[in-house]
Amino acid sequence: MIKRTHTCGDLCAKNIEETVSLNGWISKSRDLGGLHFIDLRDRYGKTQIVFNEDINKETFDRVKKLGLEDVIGITGKVVSRPDDAVNKNIPTGEIDVEVTKLSIYNESAPPPFDINDRNSASEDHRLKYRYLELRTRELQHNMLIRHKAAIATRNFMNDQKFVEIETPVLMKSTPEGARDFLVPSRLHKGRFYALPQSPQTYKQLLMVSGFDKYFQIVKCFRDEDFRADRQPEFTQIDIEMSFVNQDDIINLGTNLTRHIWRIVNDVDLPEEFPILNYHDAIERYGSDKPDIRFDMELQEMAGFVEQSDFNAFKSVLESGGRVKGLVCPNASTYSRKVIDELTDYLKKYYGAKGLAWMKCVDGKLDGGIGKFFPESVKNDIISQLSIEDDSVIFMVGDAAKTVFAALGALRIELAKRESLIDSNKWAPLWVVDFPLVEWNEDKNRWDALHHPFTSPNLEDLDKLDSEPGTVRSFGYDVIMNGYELGGGSIRIHNRDLQARIFKLLGISDEDAQEKFGFLMDAFKYGAPPHGGMAFGFDRIVMLLAGSNQIRDVIAFPKTTSALSLMDNSPSLVSEEQLEELHLEVIQDSED
Ligand code: AMO
Repeated sequence: MIKRTHTCGDLCAKNIEETVSLNGWISKSRDLGGLHFIDLRDRYGKTQIVFNEDINKETFDRVKKLGLEDVIGITGKVVSRPDDAVNKNIPTGEIDVEVTKLSIYNESAPPPFDINDRNSASEDHRLKYRYLELRTRELQHNMLIRHKAAIATRNFMNDQKFVEIETPVLMKSTPEGARDFLVPSRLHKGRFYALPQSPQTYKQLLMVSGFDKYFQIVKCFRDEDFRADRQPEFTQIDIEMSFVNQDDIINLGTNLTRHIWRIVNDVDLPEEFPILNYHDAIERYGSDKPDIRFDMELQEMAGFVEQSDFNAFKSVLESGGRVKGLVCPNASTYSRKVIDELTDYLKKYYGAKGLAWMKCVDGKLDGGIGKFFPESVKNDIISQLSIEDDSVIFMVGDAAKTVFAALGALRIELAKRESLIDSNKWAPLWVVDFPLVEWNEDKNRWDALHHPFTSPNLEDLDKLDSEPGTVRSFGYDVIMNGYELGGGSIRIHNRDLQARIFKLLGISDEDAQEKFGFLMDAFKYGAPPHGGMAFGFDRIVMLLAGSNQIRDVIAFPKTTSALSLMDNSPSLVSEEQLEELHLEVIQDSED
């Protein structure tokens, strides 16, 4: 093997005349008769190397047969390129290396797609050959961002005196919101470990153990519906602290985010992030993770609807529902066809029954449901909502949840269509004062919005029994550009309060003992007041890398149907393995 003296990204004009050795992969090859040019690539860059026919016939003939992605080593002399061949776009663009010695380490089979053009193959094809996709410039860059973000996190947390402690990957199945991935036990027939959805219980136990500042960059596993920003296994920056209140965690989370953005992307985020309460986030943006890079806030329409003859919306209001609207510019581009498409989208994904509209033309509201509103009310709408000519106002009336979900989604869709989002902008914020619990219609019970250990806001304790739906929690999320970057809460450290919450959530004493008994027992022995949060590390890296797909920042990700196309997992296992685990697979009749 030729030991390299430099990487393929190192050499420049100051190395001219030096004898150097490089190792790398053939990224491009050009045969010019008596000269042969190769772009040699490694993770640091590309260097153009030149073979002259004078080298010796045998080597020169071999060079002509080299293929893309063959891996070689060379020794040669650094020379300057003729002026018209200089490439100012790459650091090595002023030089060539004239090869005097070649060593071929391994020939490559023809690559299944062009490593220089990631878009030359479908994503499924690239995922099958992920180890080759990882050679592409984009993914090499993304992995480096990920690495830098991890190091920045560790340095920051270490400076703040946090201790990184690993917690088990095989744990007890505890309900945390999503479905668990289960691991059958060989030694204990019929028993299962669960893979952690997060190290939530362990980090609280570590507080009882006295590690008052814990963090961990940790894999979590959730069997849920996967989307562009969700994977079955993902990574959290998990944090827990003792003797703190909500403001302390918000400060720490803000400073960590600022540190990562500064170190990795050289971006200065604001010293303090805006704080919005949950109620306002929903009313103004229809979302608890609002993208505040643009305005277009939801407008209250109830007062106007009451003065109209539009019975569909009036009956929505009478039955306790809501009617809200969005004002969007460029009404003329919203043809019947486009509005129908938007309506179908809201019906299909957000359960809206329809999308009503009116357009403002020559200072008057018209079209759509305009005919149901008296002229004076339409004038009030124009003036109170500051509607300009050629705007369209979209409205949804329904149960509150549907109205906010549909208009929250429409707001983002309209902003994309109208190019209202500045992609260079960073808009972090905290959302606080989440409700402690929400009513689960299907199961006829209260469910915790975060998790059962989240402390109620102590100011609202008197409403815990009478009006649980109005009790705020000490829970908080940090949002960036419309993505939930992280979330957490101040925890309950008092056994009596925890028992009251379990009761509210319909978790019986026996169930609580069975599921969380170990945590409740630990709390008997001097549990400090504590709280924490977890950041979605993949989402942080995704945003820093300018992507909208977390698969782009995970070395070996799964598809949205939780498959690994490279190694074909999940896969069948042998009868013997099943037997050892005391498992039997029941075949469906269609299988
Ligand atoms: P939570 O469930 O909100 O909180 O998760 C914290 C953050 O993890 C990220 N995240 C995900 N990222 C990728 N794929 C997924 N499937 C996925 N699920 C969640 C999100 C989210 O904000 N134990 C609590 C934290 C605490 O209370 O301290 C927890 O896990 O960015």
